[in-house]
Amino acid sequence: MNEDAYQVPARNEYRYLVQDEGEEEIQYVRRHYVSPFLVVSKRCMFLIACGVLALLALAGYLAHIAQTPPPGFAEVPTDCGWLRGRWENGAYSFKGIPYAVPPVDERRWMPPKDPKEAGDCWHGVYDATRVRSVCAQVQPLQKDGHVTGSEDCLHLSVFTPSLQPAEPLPVMVWLHGGYLHMLSGQEKGYSPTEELAAQTQTVFVSLNYRLNAFGFMALEVLREGSPTNTSGNYGFMDQIQALKWVQKNIHVFGGDPTKVTIFGQSSGGTSVWTLMMSKLAQGLFHRAIDMSGSYVYNASLASAERDNLVFLKQTGCQDAACLRKLSITEVLQAIPWEEYPYWAAEDLTDIPVKDRVCGPVAVVDGHVLSVPPFEAWEKKGEFYNDVPFVVGTTEQETDISPPLKNISTWTWGDYEWFVGEKLRPFGKDVASKALRLYNSSAPCPTTDRCPERLYATLVSDMRVTCPNNNLAKRAAEALKSPVYRYLVTYIPSKAVNASSWGFYPSRFSFHMLDSLAFFGGLEMTLGTKTPADKAFQEVLTKYFIYFAKEGKMPAEWVEFPSRIALLDQKLSVEQNPLAERCRLWEENGFYKYAWIN
Ligand SMILES: *[C@@H]1O[C@H](CO)[C@@H](O)[C@H](O)[C@H]1NC(C)=O
Ligand SMILES: *[C@@H]1O[C@H](CO)[C@@H](O)[C@H](O)[C@H]1NC(C)=O
Ligand SMILES: *[C@@H]1O[C@H](CO)[C@@H](O)[C@H](O)[C@H]1NC(C)=O
Ligand SMILES: *[C@@H]1O[C@H](CO)[C@@H](O)[C@H](O)[C@H]1NC(C)=O
Ligand SMILES: *[C@@H]1O[C@H](CO)[C@@H](O)[C@H](O)[C@H]1NC(C)=O
Repeated sequence: MNEDAYQVPARNEYRYLVQDEGEEEIQYVRRHYVSPFLVVSKRCMFLIACGVLALLALAGYLAHIAQTPPPGFAEVPTDCGWLRGRWENGAYSFKGIPYAVPPVDERRWMPPKDPKEAGDCWHGVYDATRVRSVCAQVQPLQKDGHVTGSEDCLHLSVFTPSLQPAEPLPVMVWLHGGYLHMLSGQEKGYSPTEELAAQTQTVFVSLNYRLNAFGFMALEVLREGSPTNTSGNYGFMDQIQALKWVQKNIHVFGGDPTKVTIFGQSSGGTSVWTLMMSKLAQGLFHRAIDMSGSYVYNASLASAERDNLVFLKQTGCQDAACLRKLSITEVLQAIPWEEYPYWAAEDLTDIPVKDRVCGPVAVVDGHVLSVPPFEAWEKKGEFYNDVPFVVGTTEQETDISPPLKNISTWTWGDYEWFVGEKLRPFGKDVASKALRLYNSSAPCPTTDRCPERLYATLVSDMRVTCPNNNLAKRAAEALKSPVYRYLVTYIPSKAVNASSWGFYPSRFSFHMLDSLAFFGGLEMTLGTKTPADKAFQEVLTKYFIYFAKEGKMPAEWVEFPSRIALLDQKLSVEQNPLAERCRLWEENGFYKYAWIN
């Protein structure tokens, strides 16, 4: 029997499990769906007809019994059909759920398509007990890097402590980082887990979106004939498609579609503020957390299409049809690695080379973004999503992957030499001012690697921290909703090999420290957790979850710009502690070297 033949209205029935607190044993609870066919009319005159109906109902019931999931599993109905997930570690997970038609062949470099609208739903029960492929990418980010993943990657996962909570639960949607070029929503230690959902009583969603050339290639030949008359930003469109899926489906997982927080780190943070400024994402989320995102990208579509001609040339193609026939590897090797616009983005963790800026990956395409980012906030009449907004960075972002591996052995003499040399092209004055402001008397909570720490602080201030202060300031001026700003100052109990590609023992408040702590990845990489590590993790988690639930921070965390919160083993708030340092970089035009995706 075709399972589609018996349709169960959403919300009428759930097949779910409850775990008895006191017992290990998992027991079944099932609510019976009452088929209208079973309500037998007393006035039924035609016994045969009734018999047929009863048989049909029986068949339906038997089919239903046959579908009942075995212990340890749970099933829920989405708009595109049933999913089978798993109960584990105190919560349910449903993994690898398709939220768009696979963007392959003719759909490569096209906006994502809703599977239901495309008539592309599955039959029967979809196995959502395992994650699917990550999106096609190169690791590490260099021409001879390893190509991995597939284009059929538009999947998301849901983690929920309860399918039928007394009250719908707040929802947090995770947008992963990786330069818009790498990683996925299913990285261990860098994505939600059952434990996190259980412990915070929050529903988490984590998704893959198209990356690198597949997610962000802007080219005239791709724009021509496209439904939007634009090119590029496909990855952002995927994120928006996933948020639409959340609006339609999250209630069956116990989530509240009116309390959706988007949060993302690094290029995931860039994605967060992009969605805040996108009309296409209107009403799809209600709070936003940008963790160490880029400051700006404002390349016009026309200039990006011109710059990316390098890519077209390297593929040997002249048109979209040819481009769509290339293999994944051919596409990823043809991107402009070493020539402008430098998709390898390799010099972002050092003092910049004068006038060398990375070119566009994301673009102002006129579809996802109708005007350059800050104009959305500053120009009269432009659209933006006015939601409570948190802007976070870490104090030594560049400690994730510093320019020189031996930086950890620097003396103060080495430090002064490097700062002087690298800043010289920007003027003698800048170098001497910087050396005065960032001098060896700066407090250093570790007693080792202090010159390295100060160098990382200087570069991070210049390229991330101060530009993000400026971004938060512009947000606070535009939004009616509250804006909060945090700076992570916590130093983990020991050095961490945080990046899977850099193998550098990060010692300070490195890029990713906040997200790793939130997702339990810090403990994983440290191998253990001291009370101090735990205290930091708890502070961060407490405030993020409070924000997701309430749409604001508790009273002690005062809004920006009047205060900045320092996140350490506990929260403290200060009036801008960075004012003088940021003035140096801003006045000397360094924000043009701010992190960009
Ligand atoms: C498509 O976009 C291009 C470049 O932005 C513009 O010149 C052209 O007029 C647009 N075409 C249509 C049909 O809107
Ligand atoms: C660190 O490495 C750089 C580049 O390899 C080299 O020039 C420098 O002398 C080294 N510095 C120290 C302190 O070892
Ligand atoms: C060293 O830096 C501190 C700020 O960290 C500053 O207050 C102090 O004046 C600087 N010292 C010198 C000699 O410039
Ligand atoms: C981190 O990486 C370094 C260099 O590859 C290695 O020597 C060290 O053992 C690693 N540490 C941990 C905790 O994995
Ligand atoms: C792009 O952003 C930079 C940095 O804020 C700014 O200097 C520049 O004027 C912007 N360009 C456009 C076209 O908006």
